[in-house]
Amino acid sequence: MKKIILTGDRPTGNLHIGHYVGSIANRLKLQNEGDFDKFYIMIADTQALTDNANKVDKVKNNIVQVALDYLAAGIDPKKVNIFIQSQVPELAEIMMYFMNLVTVSRVNRNPTVKEELKQRDFSNSIPVGFMCYPISQAADILAFNANCIPVGDDQLPMIEQAREIAKSFNNTYGKEILVYPEALLSNNKACVRLVGTDGKIKMSKSAGNCIYLKDEPEEIKQKIMNAYTDPNHIKVSDPGKVEGNVVFTYLDVFCKEEHFARFLPEYKNLDELKAHYKKGGLGDVKIKLFLNEIMQEFLRPIRERRKELEKNIDEIYKMLFENSKKASEVAHGTLEKMKDAMGINYHKFLS
Ligand code: TRP
Repeated sequence: MKKIILTGDRPTGNLHIGHYVGSIANRLKLQNEGDFDKFYIMIADTQALTDNANKVDKVKNNIVQVALDYLAAGIDPKKVNIFIQSQVPELAEIMMYFMNLVTVSRVNRNPTVKEELKQRDFSNSIPVGFMCYPISQAADILAFNANCIPVGDDQLPMIEQAREIAKSFNNTYGKEILVYPEALLSNNKACVRLVGTDGKIKMSKSAGNCIYLKDEPEEIKQKIMNAYTDPNHIKVSDPGKVEGNVVFTYLDVFCKEEHFARFLPEYKNLDELKAHYKKGGLGDVKIKLFLNEIMQEFLRPIRERRKELEKNIDEIYKMLFENSKKASEVAHGTLEKMKDAMGINYHKFLS
């Protein structure tokens, strides 16, 4: 069977290191392994509008921002089709047929949507489009016969609903047209949801606790120097806590043994550093400056590549439009098959 990978992001802000470790790193790995027939990354602008109807500018402006972040991080547009959801109008038509196969109670039951409703302040004005975005996402996936969907675990209910819809379509119209997708979870659990610099919740734009891939060196340093550590570790001599300490959480993710030789030769490895911190006698400034060196080294090439790419925004849009056109052709093929199965390809009635 062909392996078709599809995944996506809503363009509501720049990508940060939480995105990098949670999804981009995994995408880079898949891209470089090359074990696929097609690999799509969708910039889900239509989905972003389901809760941003009055913030079209934000969504619109972030399309190219997200594309720049992908490319700067190393996504290779020769290997991966990066496209814009709204530029594939077939997806909306496919969704329309799917909506008749999903009950209102099923829509209300989707755990991810329920969780997102809690986080958003819709009060009594929940847009229908928002409630139906899992159906739209099923269209995104099924239109491309994608069978491998690399996502975080919060997206599992979406993949499950897409499978249900595929099954329902195939059963209702008597043909095995649609392919059943499977989620591909990143196997590095520690990375799936990177905590923000405030240590409270995952990195998120609204919480203002992100280190962005595009941040300038001074911003990175300032964010690290202000990061949450252990509030009871007041004097250098105090014993410190490593758990829940953002600096150590990030070191767990980004620090390699070779960093010690270059940036902190008094210690051999992270275990030794942690032991000293726990015992007391190791100050926050020292561990923060160490983390800063590591993050600066990690983010520098990404930022520099981004600056080069920013010089030619037209090229980025051209790439996105060409890819969207190709994606549209594929989605068109699926839509035609669906309509054949449904018996609604009316133009075929002409002899
Ligand atoms: N819902 C996903 C998110 O919020 C984005 C997305 C849209 C997506 N369409 C998709 C992910 C299709 C995987 C497959 O992150």
